[in-house]
Amino acid sequence: MAVHLVQHPIVQDALSSLRNKSTSPSHFRRLTHRLSLIVAMDATRKLPMTLARVETPLELAQGEVLDGDVVVVPVLRAGLGMVDAVLELLPHARVGHIGLERDEQTAVASRYYVRLPAGIGHSTALIVDPMLATGGSALAAIDVLRRAGAKDVRLLCIIAAPEGVAAVEAGHPGLPIFTAAVDRQLDARKFILPGLGDFGDRLYGTT
Ligand code: PRP
Ligand code: URA
Repeated sequence: MAVHLVQHPIVQDALSSLRNKSTSPSHFRRLTHRLSLIVAMDATRKLPMTLARVETPLELAQGEVLDGDVVVVPVLRAGLGMVDAVLELLPHARVGHIGLERDEQTAVASRYYVRLPAGIGHSTALIVDPMLATGGSALAAIDVLRRAGAKDVRLLCIIAAPEGVAAVEAGHPGLPIFTAAVDRQLDARKFILPGLGDFGDRLYGTT
């Protein structure tokens, strides 16, 4: 299975507050940041490293340092809420943006913006998009990155639906998906159940 379910008491606690319809946008943003940090820790468990000698006050120590380019790619708008957490862990990561919007009637995602850093063929590309519902947006984002040459592509979510997971697995077998929850199903409008509603609206108070 390419799905990595991130399990931790802090994750369960934050998810409960995130789902709560009474949570304010400012608290929703804080919770998103907290969850993104933990999901990103899991998603970056395997990153290229190199040996390094470090001089401590007492002697030379053998250490390891991160070695390799990382590109964080938020899917607008909701993915923006996850970027700062990833940059907190990986301050040197470069950032690309992909703008996708689901049609409210058909739930089909259309692309309105793409801006990626150059030369991402050897980078680790971390797509951040908190909701994986039908998988249409994720597949579109993966497609953009693959066309730009990215080989190591990982998807970081907060809530996934089984339908979205299946769609990504079918389109890109083995592509790792890191998520804090896999919910029950989609409803008739392709919203995740139980989910939390429209993530972008709740993040930015646009409901
Ligand atoms: C949401 C979410 C994902 C997408 C998931 O974005 O942030 O990008 O829906 O749905 P899918 O798996 O069925 O494609 P939305 O299109 O609502 O845009 P927004 O972030 O600007 O609100
Ligand atoms: N996008 C959201 O923000 N929420 C859902 O439940 C599905 C897609």
